[in-house]
Amino acid sequence: MRIDAVTIFPEIFNVLDVSLLGKARESGLIDFTAHNLRDFTSDAHRTVDDSPYGGGAGMVMMAEPWALALESIRSSAATESTEDDDAAPAPVLIIPTPSGHVFNQKLARALAPEEHLVFACGRYEGIDERVYEWAAPRFRVLPVSLGDYVLNGGEVAVLAMIEAIGRLIPGVVGNPESLVEESHEDGLLEYPVYTKPSTWRELEVPEVLLSGNHGKIARFRRETQLHRTAKRRPELILDIDPASTNRKDRDL
Ligand code: ADE
Repeated sequence: MRIDAVTIFPEIFNVLDVSLLGKARESGLIDFTAHNLRDFTSDAHRTVDDSPYGGGAGMVMMAEPWALALESIRSSAATESTEDDDAAPAPVLIIPTPSGHVFNQKLARALAPEEHLVFACGRYEGIDERVYEWAAPRFRVLPVSLGDYVLNGGEVAVLAMIEAIGRLIPGVVGNPESLVEESHEDGLLEYPVYTKPSTWRELEVPEVLLSGNHGKIARFRRETQLHRTAKRRPELILDIDPASTNRKDRDL
């Protein structure tokens, strides 16, 4: 997967050199580039923002540097593609913003098979709204929020999204089975996990997990998932597909 991020702080993305994503980059599974938005300005101060029309606090990112940066990514992607790729879909342009669609595991899964993701990291009060309109015929534009809180800019949100999406690309996580029984994969929070020793500072591992009875262990895990989800994230319970539940679940 090719991933480009446009930002005024490209160095924030240096963390992608390490851990599983660093390995995925080394092995060519992920081809990541951070671009400095200021390289697409034309004044001595490399200005990327100005005051908002209509007044109000803060500054707004100007449209032109964004158009130039995104055009340059778009044309380098077009040069890369071969004749066979004529029908290649437009890259997805993800714009992190607290006013976007909520990012979740379902969206991460939908984005993982994409060939090319472009992230536009806004700062200040956001990007001139006309950039969204301008980009629409050139990209599949997707404003995305990490949750109901405000960050100083999109970079940290983009790092989280790249990690969530990247680990779903086949080959990035060594053992693909570890992706199956995770929080949110089946719409529920994950069951609690334990490792050795079985008694630690007078705290015991639940006995059933030492029993070797796989049926009982599966039942215990399912019950703790349902209880934990009902307690911590009750709204998720309403979204469970009834076809995925069984009679024992309903007895809880
Ligand atoms: N930028 C600022 N706050 C954000 C959030 N909650 N999610 C995504 N991008 C953001």
